Amino acid sequence: MAQIFAAHSDTPPALLRLLFHDCFIQGCDASILLDDSNESTNRSAEKLAIPNQTLKGFDKVEKIKEELEKACPGVVSCADILVLATRDGIVLAGGPFYPVFTGRRDSNQSYFQEAMDDIPKPDGNITQTLGLFTLRGFNERETVSLLGGHSIGKISCEFIQGRLFNFSGTGQPDPSIASDFLDEMRRNCQDSGNSSNGTASPPMVSRAMSELTLGMTYYQGLSSSVSSGSAFDTHYYQSLLQGRGLLFSDQQLMAEEKTERLVRAYASDDGSTFQIDFARSMMKMRPSVS
Ligand code: HEM
Repeated sequence: MAQIFAAHSDTPPALLRLLFHDCFIQGCDASILLDDSNESTNRSAEKLAIPNQTLKGFDKVEKIKEELEKACPGVVSCADILVLATRDGIVLAGGPFYPVFTGRRDSNQSYFQEAMDDIPKPDGNITQTLGLFTLRGFNERETVSLLGGHSIGKISCEFIQGRLFNFSGTGQPDPSIASDFLDEMRRNCQDSGNSSNGTASPPMVSRAMSELTLGMTYYQGLSSSVSSGSAFDTHYYQSLLQGRGLLFSDQQLMAEEKTERLVRAYASDDGSTFQIDFARSMMKMRPSVS
């Protein structure tokens, strides 16, 4: 992982998102990596479901698998590789270390429809987000800490344009965006003219040209109030307190008192409470559902 990271520093966020999307649907079973559809059910592969179409990092898992197969054929599952590589990537990105069990088995089943239905949506409100996490055994605190995964990585403009230009079909921006941040984001994410109305991105919306780097955007906006250093610090939560969340679903953490309280708590120290909780929540990602 250290070698991959040295050459591609964007690997940890890519793997973290890949792992989240894998584990959220039927557990951490590497079903997200399968290309083939289930012959018996005539459905498409999970990786083709809309929320999964923007995932990255498949090539990195494959590279690690190749190396391991050379050294030790048929022993380490792709599910374990994804979990271990992500864990190590998080540490390399400045996040917490946490122990993980090994021995996961790879699935030969792919869950297209469940991925379509159950991967949380960027336009999801707080009730919808909490509902989906609750179904997978995560309480509010764990959910708010896991969303801190958005402390690293990038978000494409296509997921934000609806909020900036035509929120819920109003022709107006999302009122929960702080006005200075709105200007900043509009400069980075021009109106593509085909952005949807703040609802889920339709399948055919093309990937916008630009992306917002999660950490960088927040840092830019908060340069005087956030110390530099690890990206796994409080900047994600600080930004939410200031109405500067990138995704609607991020900013929605401020829409309910119980989640807002957690955001405030994570924003209020040196980042250690968030790191401890994030590590614990990552350890709860289930091996498989059976
Ligand atoms: C309500 C829940 C969530 C929603 C709606 C959501 C949605 C998204 C979206 C739309 C992107 C941008 C993808 C792109 O531009 O290609 C993204 C990126 C990302 N998400 Fe989430 N996410 C959620 C929860 C999580 C969780 C729980 C984690 C990890 C524990 C996570 C980790 C990441 C990371 C690391 C990235 C950056 C990926 C990269 O730079 O390659 N997300 N997420």
